[in-house]
Amino acid sequence: PPIQPFSISFGADNATLEPQGQVLTRRMSDLEGLFADGDAWARAVADGDPVVYTVVSSPVPEVPRELPQSITTIYPGETGGEFWMTKGHQHPDPQGEIYLGLDGHGGLLLFDGERAEWLEMRPGTIGYIPPSWAHRSINVGDEPYRFLAVYPGSAGHDYGWVVAHGMGLRARRASAPRTGNGDTTHVD
Ligand code: PA5
Ligand code: NI
Repeated sequence: PPIQPFSISFGADNATLEPQGQVLTRRMSDLEGLFADGDAWARAVADGDPVVYTVVSSPVPEVPRELPQSITTIYPGETGGEFWMTKGHQHPDPQGEIYLGLDGHGGLLLFDGERAEWLEMRPGTIGYIPPSWAHRSINVGDEPYRFLAVYPGSAGHDYGWVVAHGMGLRARRASAPRTGNGDTTHVD
């Protein structure tokens, strides 16, 4: 049966959706090959394999014409000097997506295969992901970073593209901030 009109609430601490669909937990072991320092990644896996991020979805299914939503929570942390992040993906069916910052301080890294762009994400920031740009989220703060994603149900997730092409930039803590409000640095 088709989805009927309904409303969804943010749960306590913006960490959940009510009603809620599936919950995904990504541990360090799920991020193989993504951090520049593979030895540091392997040590983190051996040393408790911490949860790096969770994704809770609304009950709206990932099917054509629907607009599913999800809240991602990335915990604060660094591996090999690199901030904790999502795997990152490309939409096989190129369609746009919007993110809304809810809590904490993050970055939205976008890469089209040639050019990389960095959007600072704070509570209330809407980050727009144009079709065909791979995207990864990064927690550059000391608190959990949370955002709401809204995306076309037919967009899909291609994780292999990011493994093959990278994301153009990496986010590390800056030893000396380069700008007045910047506490991160981005290097190739
Ligand atoms: O739809 C999105 O882009 C997000 O909900 C992501 O799927 C989520 O942030 C987790 O990232 P990834 O799918 O790259 O592991
Ligand atoms: Ni996406």
